Amino acid sequence: MAMSELKWMSVQEREIFGAAAWSLALVTDDFAYGGKRYRVIELDGVLVAYAVYGYDGDAFSLMNIAVIESSRGQGHARVLMRDFLAEAHSEQARDAWLEVAVTNQPALALYRSFGFEDVRIRPRYYQPEDVDAMVMRVSVQPSFASAPAE
Ligand SMILES: CC(C)(COP(=O)(O)OP(=O)(O)OC[C@H]1O[C@@H](n2cnc3c(N)ncnc32)[C@H](O)[C@@H]1OP(=O)(O)O)[C@@H](O)C(=O)NCCC(=O)NCCS
Repeated sequence: MAMSELKWMSVQEREIFGAAAWSLALVTDDFAYGGKRYRVIELDGVLVAYAVYGYDGDAFSLMNIAVIESSRGQGHARVLMRDFLAEAHSEQARDAWLEVAVTNQPALALYRSFGFEDVRIRPRYYQPEDVDAMVMRVSVQPSFASAPAE
């Protein structure tokens, strides 16, 4: 992602995540100083999806992934997940981590299809929605750079 695309990302954040959105100030600061990877998918000049990942302490973690509503169901999240796991592998991370709302069925299905397993619940992690988070983990293996197959 280019710095000039952060404004677009912050607009998508508000539309997709509402009160839990990352603000433009937050992403601008994190992009510059957070040491994360910001990825975006652009199709025919249109930005359709993004992901943010990197180290959270010593855990290589997916911090954010979203696809604009009109472009869902076309495999864009799968592309970003493969990129995340390939990067985890090249970082020689033993595991990859993420958190997801226990009510988010599309995301849970996506993560499980990449082999992520439930580790523990973080009660009432998402506020103001008051929804539990599931912490998920997968072992990082070389094959993740290309799997699962389309
Ligand atoms: C979750 C999300 C990123 C999936 O993006 P996507 O590009 O539509 O997903 P893909 O087309 O790459 O689908 C990959 C897999 O995800 C799962 N999946 C995606 N959408 C799904 C849905 N509506 N219902 C059930 N499973 C779904 C399936 O396992 C799918 O594989 P399949 O097509 O072989 O069945 C997207 O729905 C989104 O942006 N949601 C809002 C933001 C969000 O919740 N982010 C996650 C925060 S933890």
